[in-house]
Amino acid sequence: MQLEDKRAIVTGGAGGIGRATAIAFAGEGAKVAIVDLDGEGADAVANEIIAAGGDAIALQADVSSETDIMRVVESAVESFGGVDVVFNNAGIIRRATAIELTVEEWDRVFAVNVRSVFLMCKHVVPVMAAGGGGSIVNTGSGWGLKGGANALSYCASKGAVVNMTRALAIDHGPQGIRVNSVNPGDTNTDMLRNEAAQLGEDPSAFLAEAGDRPLGRMGEPAEIAAAVVWLASDASSYVTGAALVVDGGGIA
Ligand SMILES: NC(=O)c1ccc[n+]([C@@H]2O[C@H](COP(=O)([O-])OP(=O)(O)OC[C@H]3O[C@@H](n4cnc5c(N)ncnc54)[C@H](O)[C@@H]3O)[C@@H](O)[C@H]2O)c1
Repeated sequence: MQLEDKRAIVTGGAGGIGRATAIAFAGEGAKVAIVDLDGEGADAVANEIIAAGGDAIALQADVSSETDIMRVVESAVESFGGVDVVFNNAGIIRRATAIELTVEEWDRVFAVNVRSVFLMCKHVVPVMAAGGGGSIVNTGSGWGLKGGANALSYCASKGAVVNMTRALAIDHGPQGIRVNSVNPGDTNTDMLRNEAAQLGEDPSAFLAEAGDRPLGRMGEPAEIAAAVVWLASDASSYVTGAALVVDGGGIA
């Protein structure tokens, strides 16, 4: 059990990479608070974990809202007695160039992908520090480390996540808190299907193209989750400020 007795928060835990990670965390012995805009989806994942003998709570919340984040941290502390691990995973994508993108869309992508990480850290770091430390994993992307077409706000937001991870690692290392980013390549979730729809492309052709990388296929959510379990666990005790790429060799 790599996460025995750890108390974890997973944002965007109702679907995709977040759901797979919440289930993997619970399988490694963690108690998990599943946070999502989709309250019913979060309930379903928590119930699945509880049915398998694990410990989980579901919290409906918008990660871009400070009031919601404060409630999430308070609820996790109330239920579990503290927080040792946070996976800041909730994110959205808008496939558009600077010309097509509206100011409102730019702001929403930054609120969900970037402001959320700041807000969670603002409110959870004091709790973690009081408990002697912890591990925070932020979700970047291959497109936080290189550019991509028709995704200006997303690329900018994920670049911000990768570098704010380094800044957080520097600030909170002395408190025993490690902060790393996991950077997935194309992974088999609803986000990819949503991108195909935004671009007006055939979903099966879009998914096939996502496999164009050295390992010859896109990633599965459980493969990203395995990397997050490692970053969350004491097995990575000397790793902080790192950007771990999990992409089948895509950006290589
Ligand atoms: N799927 C990929 O190919 C891929 C690649 C690189 C990075 N990522 C990143 O991984 C993360 C997870 O992506 P995914 O593919 O699992 O996406 P997904 O769309 O399948 O799941 C995202 C989850 O986040 C939730 N969510 C969205 N906005 C929210 C908000 N404001 N508050 C709370 N919850 C919210 C959604 O309801 C959903 O359950 C995202 O940060 C994404 O940018 C995904």
